[in-house]
Amino acid sequence: MDNDRKEKTFILLKPDAVQRGLTGRIIARFEDKGLKIIAAKLVQVTREQAEKHYGVHKGKRFFESLVEFITSSPCLALVLEGRNAIKLCRRIMGSTDPMDSEPGTIRGDFSLDVKHNLIHGSDCPDSYAHEVQVYFTPEEILNYRLELEGWIYYA
Ligand code: RTP
Ligand code: MG
Repeated sequence: MDNDRKEKTFILLKPDAVQRGLTGRIIARFEDKGLKIIAAKLVQVTREQAEKHYGVHKGKRFFESLVEFITSSPCLALVLEGRNAIKLCRRIMGSTDPMDSEPGTIRGDFSLDVKHNLIHGSDCPDSYAHEVQVYFTPEEILNYRLELEGWIYYA
């Protein structure tokens, strides 16, 4: 069953999240929900990384501005794990354009511009596989058990 999958997702807190001092509050939302941090790194994203990460958008009119923005100041890269983590994190993040995202979501509560929308999250398992290797080596992704896990997961 799709929503019974324990999976990983790649999250990037964009430069506006770091500069505005929102990283702690954003991470807390994922932790509160029961997601587990299995990798974390503050990173000055290079143009090469940004172009790889957002390769699917190459040629779109916002591509250059997106690459410029992502490389303008440090980002916080994360890998989160949990039940149906990819879809769940996208719901917690809210719609791409903060003018459409619901109150209660990260983008809905903290942002109002599509470029300055604070956060990226993988949108499917293939995207995760592509994105994670742009930012992390396999050794940087940890495998450990949280003591509370049995109270969060059915398994
Ligand atoms: P993300 O990849 O960053 O998680 O965002 P997303 O899936 O919700 O949206 P996507 O379509 O993948 O777009 C990637 C990022 O490009 C910027 N964008 N600007 N119309 C525009 O000016 C426009 N459209 C997209 C946003 O910052 C978006 O997060
Ligand atoms: Mg996307």
